[in-house]
Amino acid sequence: MGSHTNDGDDGQSRQSCWKVDLQSIKTDMVNLAKQAGEMITTATASAATAVDTKKNSADLVTETDAAVEKFISTHLMVKYPTFQFLGEETYKPGMKLGKEPTFVVDPIDGTTNFVHRYPYVSISLGFAVDRIPCVGVVFNPFTQKLYWGVKGEGSYIVDVQTGEEKRLPVKQEKEEFKGLDGTLVAIEWGSDRSGANWKCKTETWAKLGASKEEGGAMVHSARALGSAALNLCAVAEGTLDLYWEGGCWAWDVCAGWVILKEAGGTIVSGNPGEWEIPVDHRKYLAVRAAKAGQKEIVEEFWGFVQGTMEYES
Ligand code: IPD
Repeated sequence: MGSHTNDGDDGQSRQSCWKVDLQSIKTDMVNLAKQAGEMITTATASAATAVDTKKNSADLVTETDAAVEKFISTHLMVKYPTFQFLGEETYKPGMKLGKEPTFVVDPIDGTTNFVHRYPYVSISLGFAVDRIPCVGVVFNPFTQKLYWGVKGEGSYIVDVQTGEEKRLPVKQEKEEFKGLDGTLVAIEWGSDRSGANWKCKTETWAKLGASKEEGGAMVHSARALGSAALNLCAVAEGTLDLYWEGGCWAWDVCAGWVILKEAGGTIVSGNPGEWEIPVDHRKYLAVRAAKAGQKEIVEEFWGFVQGTMEYES
């Protein structure tokens, strides 16, 4: 596969000057994700224990988070020395995703699951150019399911054990949305547990679940996989209909963003009214592919959001 000129067409028809071979980046990221997966599944008990917390006692970090990020960044920076790297574990307040080709990496998305040995953990490797996600690889080393997407070339799920690869969405029928009351929705607690954002989240969840007689949407149910990347991949598969969250960062969503969009899904703001958002928006509503009704389901969902989330980009 030759070089691609990325046109950054996600609603912004800007011509990019970067020539980047997205397929070869994807191949490298898949190989790294598999090797990082070994580091995660073979981590000792102490390396899978929370050694530190970030902003509060629910925001965990283990030795393995740092070791995996170091492994990935070292390899990528040797092979692509002119590109940038934005990773969860080396992020410092004030760092921003720029226009340069940038690897956007969460070494362990689902650290809380990892600490508790709940097997929904992923390595989330994204690549953005002009701030537009172009390549995404998400690998759960416990289930051996790997998702990848390349802008303009589709997205796929691979069973790493058997080598079987299927194009996304796996639910090829792309059922029309008939209303929020027929949907299965992913939500996440995240680590912020107070203030306006927590109020908006908890009141919105209550509305989504409540009966129609009591003013709710009465969705079929809610799920929380504990990894933003895996939630996005499940929406890309079509096994979850929607995913609503505030608080996650570009490294949690960059890879899943490509995988979802290449599967025909869409991603808009978690706050009502914003249809076009950047990858570091921090408030998201992801919607699976559908023959019809995507716009209507977004509008219906927004009608149940209680207030607004105020996470700063
Ligand atoms: C977290 C997970 C979680 C989401 C949080 C993220 P981490 O990432 O994706 O599902 O609710 O917003 O920060 O900390 O496990 O890398």
